[in-house]
Amino acid sequence: MPITTIIEPFRIKSVEPIRCTTRAQREHLLRAAHYNLFLLRSDDVLIDLLTDSGTGAMSNAQWAAVMRGDESYAGSPSFDRFRDSVQSIFGYQHVIPTHQGRAAERILFGTMCKKGDVVPNNTHFDTTRANIEFTGAEAVDLPSPEAREPGHAYPFKGNMDVDALEQLIVRTGRKRIPLVMLTITNNSGGGQPVSMENARAVAALCRRHSIPFYFDACRFAENAWFIKTREPGFAEKTPLRIAQEMFALGDGCTMSAKKDGMANIGGFLCTNDDALAQQERDLLILTEGYPTYGGLAGRDLEAVAVGLQEALQEDYLNYRIASIAYLGDHISAEGVPIVQPPGGHAIYLDARAFLPHVPPEQFPGVALANELYLEGGIRSVEIGTLMFAKSARMDLVRLAIPRRVYTQSHIDYVVEVILEVWNRRRQIVGMRLIEEAPFLRHFTAKLEPRGGA
Ligand code: F0G
Repeated sequence: MPITTIIEPFRIKSVEPIRCTTRAQREHLLRAAHYNLFLLRSDDVLIDLLTDSGTGAMSNAQWAAVMRGDESYAGSPSFDRFRDSVQSIFGYQHVIPTHQGRAAERILFGTMCKKGDVVPNNTHFDTTRANIEFTGAEAVDLPSPEAREPGHAYPFKGNMDVDALEQLIVRTGRKRIPLVMLTITNNSGGGQPVSMENARAVAALCRRHSIPFYFDACRFAENAWFIKTREPGFAEKTPLRIAQEMFALGDGCTMSAKKDGMANIGGFLCTNDDALAQQERDLLILTEGYPTYGGLAGRDLEAVAVGLQEALQEDYLNYRIASIAYLGDHISAEGVPIVQPPGGHAIYLDARAFLPHVPPEQFPGVALANELYLEGGIRSVEIGTLMFAKSARMDLVRLAIPRRVYTQSHIDYVVEVILEVWNRRRQIVGMRLIEEAPFLRHFTAKLEPRGGA
């Protein structure tokens, strides 16, 4: 019999203890945090699935590279290694380092967008949307119709609706569309991949209308793996070749190296446009730093240079995607409603289906996330009515898995906790909002369970 178990393709050299808590302690801690998991201290959390951003474990090769970091203000060889690593995958002419993804977004939209413009994307991440809106432009989401059905297991649910893009271009006029963006994988749409076919169709449409085409590339390696394993014609290609082929379709990208850069901080902005790159570097110097470090230490540049290559290793990607699917498949087999199929970096619980007796205005996602913390000390994040208020189309709870951090027994524990909460779901009550900030309220809101607790 061939061996089928997919193992973590690494050994552990350095460990970080987890502080175990009792349910009684967690009840006290949650009350003190006003029933908002953002307000917990992380050492009061057993398994932290709040985000996969900047929370991964670096490899021994990355730590070795950190020691090589050259901290010169200008002309650091660490920048050369960073740029070479980025260009070997992304292929763009200009590589501009930034401290994280949103800094790249601010500079890109700050140079390309103005009031009255429209920027389409398959689905904007919240900082992407906010940075576009900050310039006075409008951010428009054009997800494929399949993305609206959480239970539908379509293989490339992250795709952009190309017909809707064409209609938008015709309606708006190309002059008001400074660029089109494609987010790979589509985070806000459930960590779902975009197919090469879809990226090609978007690229062709942009070319026909002479509109620049950019990628939001945070999870490009996970997206490449889904193309390799799901899209006809790609099984024999390496993730690197697939990524190169995809980026060749565009004019540039923004990147948060806190995801598939396998680093704890970092990002970059790429473009093939010389004049634009000059303006971007001018803005970079204003707030991020000189163009050979852009807000990062030399050691950070080194960690990203190595991490980008590691993210494309087949053993790693095979394990990464299998471990997310393992969690999703084990809970959905017991009837737990999740966004199907499992995504590249996270599992999204469908809180409206999980708690049908809790209406959206009683924050079913928050109620469910709080129960997972009480039951097993797991921290997740609500993506629903608390985060988006009336514009929330779904109430989801995201369990994002940090890269190379948790082992299978941790995930088995998470499965057990979710199933325990599932079994007593009818006893779970909704939440009441006590205090909220005027914007981005989910970070600081104070809540309490309805009916007291
Ligand atoms: N684009 C996408 C698709 C993202 O998921 C993120 C961050 C960003 C841009 C911004 O990058 O954080 O480095 O400034 N997503 C994190 C998350 C925060 O939890 O999904 P950043």
